[in-house]
Amino acid sequence: MTHTPTHHKDERTLVIIKPDGIQRTLIGEIIGRYERIGLKLVGMKLMVPTEDMVSKHYTLDAGWLQAVGEKSIKGFVDKGQTPPSTDPLEIAHSILGRLVKYLTSGPVIAMVWQGAHAVKIVRKITGGTEPLTSDVGTIRGDFVLDSYQMSETDNRSIRNLVHASGSVKEAEDEIEHWFTDEELVDYSIVSDKILYAPDMSDILGKVK
Ligand code: CDP
Ligand code: MG
Repeated sequence: MTHTPTHHKDERTLVIIKPDGIQRTLIGEIIGRYERIGLKLVGMKLMVPTEDMVSKHYTLDAGWLQAVGEKSIKGFVDKGQTPPSTDPLEIAHSILGRLVKYLTSGPVIAMVWQGAHAVKIVRKITGGTEPLTSDVGTIRGDFVLDSYQMSETDNRSIRNLVHASGSVKEAEDEIEHWFTDEELVDYSIVSDKILYAPDMSDILGKVK
C-alpha cells in the first residue's frame, strides 16, 4: 500500500547501500550522514538481491532507461569526450546489465528514511551520480573517485556506494518494491519535536 504523507515531515525515500559501500566498511558513515540531519530510519534490511529484483528496481519507471542514457551521453560530451554510442537506449541497456552484476555481487542494505523533504535531502547528501563530478561534502564526492569514462573502459557500473530515489514517485514505487508494509515502522523520536513542533515553548521548567 502506498504511504501518503499528510505533512512534509512524513515523506519517505529509499536508500540502498550498494555492495561497494559495505565492502569499504562505510555503513556507519553513510547511515550517520542521513541520521545527523534529522531523518528517521523507518525500515532496514541486509540481503543479496536477485537479478530480477535489481532489474525490476531500475525499470519501475518506464522513462528511466531513456533518462540514464541521455545523462550518460551528456557526461561524456560535457568533458569533450566521445560517448560509447549516440543512442541513449543502447547505452542504457548496457548500463542496466552492468548494474545487475554490480548489485548482485554481494550484500546490500536497503533502508527507508523519513523526514521533511526526505527525497531531495537524501539526494543532496548523496551527491550526483558520477563521483568525479559530485560535490565535495556529499557521500559520493567524499568517499569514491569513479568516473563515466573509467567505468566505460572497464565495462562495469559506476561504483558510487549508494542508491537514492530520484523523486517522490520513484521513492513510493521503490519502497513498495523492496519492503512490505509490516517491515516499515511508524514511531517517534525525541528530536522530531524540536525539528517539527510549530513552537518550542515547552522546553523550560518541565522537568520536575
Ligand atoms: O543513482 P542515480 O539516481 O544517481 O543515477 P541513475 O541515472 O539513476 O543511474 C543508476 C545507477 O547506474 C548509477 O548510480 C550508477 O551506479 C549506474 N550508472 C552507470 O554505471 N553508468 C552510467 N553511465 C550511468 C549510471
Ligand atoms: Mg536514479
